Amino acid sequence: MTSTELLYSDPLAAATQAAKEIADRTGVASHDVALVMGSGWVSAADALGAPAYECNADELTGFLPPAVEGHSGKVRSYELVENGKKIRALVFLGRTHLYEGKGMEPVVHGVRTAVKAGCKVVILTNACGGINTKYKVGQPVLIRDHISLTAASPLSGATFIDLTDLYSKRIRAIVKQEDSSLEEGVYVHWRGPTYETPAEILMMRTMGADLVGMSTVPEAIAAHALGAEVLGISLVTNAAAGVTGEKLNHEEVIAAGKAAADRMGALLSSTIPKLI
Ligand code: HPA
Repeated sequence: MTSTELLYSDPLAAATQAAKEIADRTGVASHDVALVMGSGWVSAADALGAPAYECNADELTGFLPPAVEGHSGKVRSYELVENGKKIRALVFLGRTHLYEGKGMEPVVHGVRTAVKAGCKVVILTNACGGINTKYKVGQPVLIRDHISLTAASPLSGATFIDLTDLYSKRIRAIVKQEDSSLEEGVYVHWRGPTYETPAEILMMRTMGADLVGMSTVPEAIAAHALGAEVLGISLVTNAAAGVTGEKLNHEEVIAAGKAAADRMGALLSSTIPKLI
């Protein structure tokens, strides 16, 4: 059976196998924290310093090659030391999205692998459109809750899992101690690949949404279902469709991510050691 066949036929076995490969390659039996770096966040990872290990994600069981510019498809292992305490972080540069049309399994394979590799905390970052007009482009927002407009779940069967504290209150409190200016918001998962229409954004605002993007929600659910605590951070890279009348484009999203990379990197590197 190929590694892709294993991903679709037995996703948890594929994640367990990829986690074992990570342990073998890095020499680290167990990682502590996972980070998924979304569009425009890749340069923020450089603030963590030099990685102890890096490989292309698709060298590991079940990982598909990247499909989007700005998503380089690498896996890195970092050793962070704070007050003599060693933290091992597993960082995924790039992710697979539902809009790529490859189904749900590749979308959540990274976080499942991370939890199987020992990670107790999963940090999901993304680029998003700001629905709430109080947000400015370049502003990071902590995800407090989500609305799934794709109605696609990574789980099947009678897995009636509580999502009341999906985006961990404990972790949000720690992050806000690091940066008290951080706002929180409700993130809507939009399948894409088209951006939303102005009428759809109006609908989302009416539903109570603040942010819109094409990722994060399935990964949050899959990580939580395996017992990890989840933090979601959205970087507002543009005002959502119809908010300013400007047209949306992917270049603007990548550029806003790059411009905010230093602030995001500093926030991540000071926060991660306090989460474990
Ligand atoms: N909509 C959906 N996804 C996005 C957006 C947006 O406006 N900006 C960045 N990702």
